[in-house]
Amino acid sequence: MGIVTRTGDAAVRAFSAICPHQGCAVAPKGDKLVCPCHGSEFAPDTGAVLEGPARTGLATVAVSVRDGKVYPA
Ligand code: FES
Repeated sequence: MGIVTRTGDAAVRAFSAICPHQGCAVAPKGDKLVCPCHGSEFAPDTGAVLEGPARTGLATVAVSVRDGKVYPA
């Protein structure tokens, strides 16, 4: 399960949506990626932890954009 965020007109980043704390699914909420289980928050442009209890950020998934569509790299 992954999550894609837009970082520019044609730039995207992708991350595993699995929270590194205890494995719940992270989802967009406002301008952050938020885990509903214990409230960890992650930066949508880097996947870095903004607020614990997670100690590590979301795993990055390599993707590319071709013809306006996102593909695994
Ligand atoms: S499983 Fe995500 S904060 Fe605990």
